[in-house]
Amino acid sequence: MNQFTYVFPTKVYFGEGAATKALQQELPMVGRTVLLAYGGGSVKKSGIYDALKGMLAQVGKEVVDFPGIMPNPTYIKVQEGAKLVRERRVDFILAVGGGSVVDCCKVVSAQAMVDEDIWKMEYEHGKFPTEGIPMGAVVTASGTGAEMNSGAVITYEEKHWKGPIVGIGASFAILDPAYTTTVPPMQVMSGAFDTLSHAMETYLGHSDRDNVSDDVALAIMRNTVVNMRRLLLDINDMQARSNLMWDSAMAENGILKVGRLTDFQAHQIEHQLGAYTDCNHGQGLAVIHPVYYRHILKDAPEKFTRFAKEVFGKDTAEAGIEALSNFIKECGLPTKLSELKSRIEITPEVLRQVADTCNIIKCNPRELDREEIYKILCECL
Ligand code: NZQ
Ligand code: ZN
Repeated sequence: MNQFTYVFPTKVYFGEGAATKALQQELPMVGRTVLLAYGGGSVKKSGIYDALKGMLAQVGKEVVDFPGIMPNPTYIKVQEGAKLVRERRVDFILAVGGGSVVDCCKVVSAQAMVDEDIWKMEYEHGKFPTEGIPMGAVVTASGTGAEMNSGAVITYEEKHWKGPIVGIGASFAILDPAYTTTVPPMQVMSGAFDTLSHAMETYLGHSDRDNVSDDVALAIMRNTVVNMRRLLLDINDMQARSNLMWDSAMAENGILKVGRLTDFQAHQIEHQLGAYTDCNHGQGLAVIHPVYYRHILKDAPEKFTRFAKEVFGKDTAEAGIEALSNFIKECGLPTKLSELKSRIEITPEVLRQVADTCNIIKCNPRELDREEIYKILCECL
């Protein structure tokens, strides 16, 4: 195990009725003006918005709406939120949505407290936020685990860049599986695949042998696959959704990452693909993963063999990757870039730009060069 310091700052309220319990306990401790942040309208259709607004009104909070946070949230949206927080003197942010809403709010929270442009502050001056407007997260679509960490993924459209920005994590998270019942089946599956990807990416980074994090990561992968298969039989299986909601948080709450390095090269490629195409995160990962793994198979034979045996019950590393690829098809997730919903046509020229601008990871089984990333992307076409 490498050296580490581990803090777990997010209090989790999990299960049916979690919102009522959490807000009763947490809201008396926060100021009067609450920013109620959400996405494109699903929370209004599902009734979650009205329910939460009612709870806020009951305890005398003044609500400032911050609607329209889009999937793959943009830097412009972050700045809009930070301006609103400052102008309306917001005391507390309640982020209600999937990873996109939660990520946007984490950076809004931090940006609202500093005068400097946060992207410049982090990327040009190497400084990271230490304080922000306190926030809570109400998860309505699981998969990213964004509610339990302080990192956010933001699209800076002008720069053709999608990548990490450190924000301020939620002080509490509400995880009620019933809030996810209205998520469209494809998003349920792509979110769950994102969870699987987080565990696989963590597992494939450098680690000591017999590291407990590897064991836990494999357990999360197995559990995610089992519960995704349950959803294929019955998309409304609430027990399976509930299991997946906690798998999602477990894969990204940092517990798997302590004392080791992580891979996350597939994520870096997907994020930059997202910067150009605005594609769905989990779906982009589903296309990239098997192709990337075929490239690095020979660089981590032991890990891939163990993955094959413990996650898919296969004997060889090659068979494990084929099982992953078949599982993606079984779930109805895309297997080619041409199947992704994209704002532009995905051509080899676009892929060249993605390959030329994505982050390159150094602690994966083998460091890739840009030519190989381009080749991987072309094999995904
Ligand atoms: O916008 P609305 O109308 O709410 O619709 C959303 C959106 O269209 C819909 N949705 C959410 N809850 C719903 C619902 N529809 C019906 N009923 C509900 N209860 O789902 C769609 C997708 O939402 P989004 O938040 O974009 O999905 P997801 O949770 O997959 O988040 C993706 C974003 O998170 C980032 C991704 O890069 C992407 O930008 N990630 C964040 C991470 C983190 N901070 O730790 C880690 C991940 O690797 C990932 O990169
Ligand atoms: Zn992800």
